[in-house]
Amino acid sequence: IEQYTFLSGRMPLPPLWSLGFQQCRWSYYPDSEVLSLARSFRQKKIPADVIYLDIHYMDAYKIFTSHPDRFPHPKTMIESLKSMGFHVVTIVDPGIKKEVGYSSYDEGVKNNYFIKYPNGKNYVGSVWPGECHFPDFTKPATREWWGKSFSSLIDPGVDGFWNDMNEPAVWGQSIPDLVRVDFDGTQSTMKEAHNVYGMQMARSTFEGTRALLKGNRPFVLTRAGYSGIQRYSAIWTGDNVPSDDHMMLSVRLVSSMGLAGMAFAGPDISGFSGDATPDLFARWLSLGTYTPLMRSHKQYGMKRHEPWSFGEEMEASSRTSIEQRYRLIPYIYSAFYQTSQSGLPVARTLAIDYTFDEKVYWSQFQNEYLFGDNLLIAPASSTEKYLNVYFPEGSWYRLSSGQLYQGNQATVVESPLDDLPVFARAGAIIPMQGVVQYTSEKRSDTLDIHVYFGPRATSYTYYEDDGITYQYENGQYYKRIVTFEPEKKEITLHAAEGIYRSAFSMIRIVLHGFAPDVRQIVVKTKNLPAERTTIAEGGASVIFRNSTDDIIVKW
Ligand code: GLC
Repeated sequence: IEQYTFLSGRMPLPPLWSLGFQQCRWSYYPDSEVLSLARSFRQKKIPADVIYLDIHYMDAYKIFTSHPDRFPHPKTMIESLKSMGFHVVTIVDPGIKKEVGYSSYDEGVKNNYFIKYPNGKNYVGSVWPGECHFPDFTKPATREWWGKSFSSLIDPGVDGFWNDMNEPAVWGQSIPDLVRVDFDGTQSTMKEAHNVYGMQMARSTFEGTRALLKGNRPFVLTRAGYSGIQRYSAIWTGDNVPSDDHMMLSVRLVSSMGLAGMAFAGPDISGFSGDATPDLFARWLSLGTYTPLMRSHKQYGMKRHEPWSFGEEMEASSRTSIEQRYRLIPYIYSAFYQTSQSGLPVARTLAIDYTFDEKVYWSQFQNEYLFGDNLLIAPASSTEKYLNVYFPEGSWYRLSSGQLYQGNQATVVESPLDDLPVFARAGAIIPMQGVVQYTSEKRSDTLDIHVYFGPRATSYTYYEDDGITYQYENGQYYKRIVTFEPEKKEITLHAAEGIYRSAFSMIRIVLHGFAPDVRQIVVKTKNLPAERTTIAEGGASVIFRNSTDDIIVKW
């Protein structure tokens, strides 16, 4: 994977907010509805970072316009959303409506930005706006024009761009093979360009919006792509249905995409085309916590599928799943950092770490995967209250109960709807934070570093930066290697690299599975005495001030 992504490219660090919970629906409109959705999240204290605007925000589905009655004041609306900590992601489709007087159409015709029939006429295909022309994203001038057109969305405050229909999809047919494209000046046809079309659309969106956002990271999401798409965009897995089969399929799909270098992926949580049962909704959302892209979406005309749409019990369980996502943000962001460096995906099929363990290929265990370095996820369907879980080598602690399971064997575990089977590897080092309502909300003062006892020494790389700009390229990051050495009875936070100041002024080390060994914990740094030492039954924790030099925790 490292070599393949060296060739095809690695994903850059995404904006931190795109790792939070994303709420989508076809479509939230008008503006008052979008605002009331945002307020509901905050009032109900269900964390979320993103609200999507699907095709109804546009005027007659014309790209780079907004509907005059539904969204008369986009900037004002987005400012209100921002004040509540929300980011707005808008859909953009490639089809440009044929309509004289519509600037994107006029400019495209005038400057030859569209794909053409062999006789030189612009290709026509029908999508949401009716008859459309299609930008030739294989042409540098078109990419530049398309990229610049995003000023109409960025000016009012949009910073996420959802590229849909870019296979490209047209009603009733594929774009015929003979349609001509520029192919970066070499001239070709759609027969050759078909698979790169969507990729070049995402590229043009990313490059254009990155330039326009003046130092902030854009979030781009695409439905189509090609080898290397991870350089530009996250991917969602397209229109699925609300079924256990599709939920499980999406788990395997996301793991497979990770193998192919596409680390930032996820399905429409709860299934796009249809109404989910409350149980499926709850289970899928809990799986979403451990999916690189956590985005809920629903087709037009279906029931509401917000976290509170299925009654009080489900609302509470949705909150629990989403809160867990936000607790894990330091761990998830560090996993994305790792991806940006080595290409290793965030959701990892067990075939990566346990290549020669034949059981990981057995179909009954095919849905299991690792989320980041240290968490084993065993997806259960919405009806399975018990699950036969295969534990690879080592031993594994259930996150919810601390129960220890030996590896190299399968064991039946309980999998009630409110407790997805998730396990921490023995030796795991997992950084977590207190719950916030959105990723840029002021974090708790304390970073909790959970350490799960195991017989062998382990090491983990923690990474933090401002989450929004590219200043990390200038050294504005905070990275530290944490090692766990059971024989020396030491956990070491090695001196922090980078010049960014961590958002956490305190660090708490939480020990799991160490008892009865642990009698006392001593924290040694150059200058600072231990602030507090606690010994709890079955575990222990110690909290101390975060400083950038070596910190050694001894037990
Ligand atoms: C396509 C997309 C879906 C979107 C819909 C309307 O079906 O895959 O996510 O909601 O178009 O824009």
